[in-house]
Amino acid sequence: MKQKITFPEGFLWGAAVSAYQTEGGNTNTDWWAWEHSQKRIEYLKNAGKNPEDYQSGIACDSYHRYDEDFALAQQLHHNCIRISIEWARIEPEEGVFSEEALVHYEKVLQSAKDHGLQTFVTLHHFSLPLWFANKGGFSKRANMEKFVAYVGAAASRLHPLVDFWITINEPEIYSVRGYLIGEYPPNKKSMWGTLRIVRNLIRAHKQASITLHEISDTPVGMADQLTDIQASNFWAQPVATLVRYVATRYILDRAIRYSDFIGVNYYLRQSVNWRGFQKKESEDYEISDLGWELYPRGIQHILVGLKKYHKPIYITENGVADAKDLYREKYIRDHLYYIHTAIKQGADVRGYLHWSLIDNFEWSDGFAPRFGLIEINRQDSLRRIVRPSAYAYADICKNNSMEY
Ligand code: BGC
Repeated sequence: MKQKITFPEGFLWGAAVSAYQTEGGNTNTDWWAWEHSQKRIEYLKNAGKNPEDYQSGIACDSYHRYDEDFALAQQLHHNCIRISIEWARIEPEEGVFSEEALVHYEKVLQSAKDHGLQTFVTLHHFSLPLWFANKGGFSKRANMEKFVAYVGAAASRLHPLVDFWITINEPEIYSVRGYLIGEYPPNKKSMWGTLRIVRNLIRAHKQASITLHEISDTPVGMADQLTDIQASNFWAQPVATLVRYVATRYILDRAIRYSDFIGVNYYLRQSVNWRGFQKKESEDYEISDLGWELYPRGIQHILVGLKKYHKPIYITENGVADAKDLYREKYIRDHLYYIHTAIKQGADVRGYLHWSLIDNFEWSDGFAPRFGLIEINRQDSLRRIVRPSAYAYADICKNNSMEY
């Protein structure tokens, strides 16, 4: 029998995007340079792929169409939005801050406000200004002050329009994909380099948080990608405990003192044993277009595990690559059910932002994966088409509850 599940009063409902993945034209970044590098183009051609499908280009043209996007979010009963601002636009050259970019982001954030959306603003979501990347990016400890200078300049202007700051998106993914697997710029493969980056990102978060608190009392957090790490059998428990600590606790334990809330990005679970990560054991679970197992219960495990930090929690990303919109509605409802269960068990969850508002540029996977509540039709002037699942989610947002 169905029951009515009601979320806490004042719960925030919305969706998330990032600048590089949606704005288009972020030419002055390490990502753009990599997408257009001969090495990357050759690699894609050799793999039988069209390099243009893997170049962000105009993306969703949200640099110009943000108001249209926010209007749709409002129609879908969202009351918040997560965006990021592109550092390379705000500080195109070291120490030079662009008035044009700051005015632009003021307009973007004002538009969100005009559409009744509270704003979560990420200061670093994977892409870097070229000048900063060329200096060694976050791998050089001395560079942290450059990040903090940008944070200070951006926040001094934008803070009246920002409800939540997110300093860094997914230090876990950024470090592993950029410095261990080499799949994201700067395409390094080094264990020590990864450790160094992780430590510097924690420093960057701390210093940015101090600076942000000097400017205003807007809450500050980080968005962590927290994977539900499970032991694939009884004997693998110690490995799972170790991997869980490294993958989901090491950064949080160190950053928490400088965080007013925890941002949770949840997508998957992973099984481990003594031989390392294992393929999913059961065929019972559905998989996304990217081959990721859909495992909603994992979010409950993650959230209950975060209770010990005694901080408010926002789900800052959770979503599925599903071009045909076959799974998205159920995916959302199932995850919300387990989030609600975690709330009943004492997790202080205060909002849910689905990834993503619109289909966008999925980093090294290009444009094929479709994460949007709203489809972007790339054959028809990037026309926005609301998917059926977005209307189902809109009902939940509107009622702050669902039948389950
Ligand atoms: C990132 C997003 C990305 C999403 C789906 C997260 O790792 O923050 O930028 O698009 O997952 O892969």
